[in-house]
Amino acid sequence: MILIKLGGSILTFKDRKYSFRTHVAERLIKEIKNSSVDRYVLVHGGGSFGHPGAQKYGLNTTEPPSPAEGISRVQLDMRRMNNHILEMMLDQGIWAVSMPGGLITIFDGGELYEIDHEMVRRYLSLGTVPLAFGDVTIDKKRGTTICSGDDIMLGLSDFADRAVFVSDIDGIYKGGELQEEFTEDMLPLETHDLPNEKKKIDVTGGMNKKVKNMLKISERSKTYLVNGEVKGRLRKILDEEEVLATEVIG
Ligand code: IPE
Repeated sequence: MILIKLGGSILTFKDRKYSFRTHVAERLIKEIKNSSVDRYVLVHGGGSFGHPGAQKYGLNTTEPPSPAEGISRVQLDMRRMNNHILEMMLDQGIWAVSMPGGLITIFDGGELYEIDHEMVRRYLSLGTVPLAFGDVTIDKKRGTTICSGDDIMLGLSDFADRAVFVSDIDGIYKGGELQEEFTEDMLPLETHDLPNEKKKIDVTGGMNKKVKNMLKISERSKTYLVNGEVKGRLRKILDEEEVLATEVIG
């Protein structure tokens, strides 16, 4: 089984609320379809559908002020985004089924505690494609928290052969240079590690967290970061062809 995560940064414009990048999403789904991969789980992030509400309602904090409204509204936003992708997949004859992060995970103090492997496996064995996504979920200590697409990738990685993260950068940079391989000793990433055009966009704190998570995943399955903005790269990496990307090695 292959895990593929389409990041919110490729599926939406992060600075415009609810801006879904239909053409990019359609092309990426086509690339997956045209690859030789047939048993996979597709995961997507929240981008400008999930993050604004999560922040507004403080859902990533220990005590969100009005959790019920926040849970309800952010879950709706994520399901709207998910429906765009689900419909696109069905239009291309891919029999995807929605797996909201909020229904397949439980967290404990902001960390993934449990993920429903059996549900995912059973849907896979029916020939469907589980389409999981970042969401608001239950937390044993905090009541509620945000489950990111990256958490889902980690949770499912112990039965995956490969994990492919699709983003809007060519890979992971260190000292301004793109790295074909990235290992733990290269952490932490500082602002000067990023290429100039990306410095403003992703705060390095966010990137460090993502890379740490990828390092953990890579202990269980081969893990890559690839640029989905460039046509054909996702298809090539899925087919194990030579392509510009970073392999994360934990
Ligand atoms: C976020 O998921 C989900 C919500 C904010 C509800 P991710 O953290 O995986 O989203 P991206 O990929 O960074 O946008």
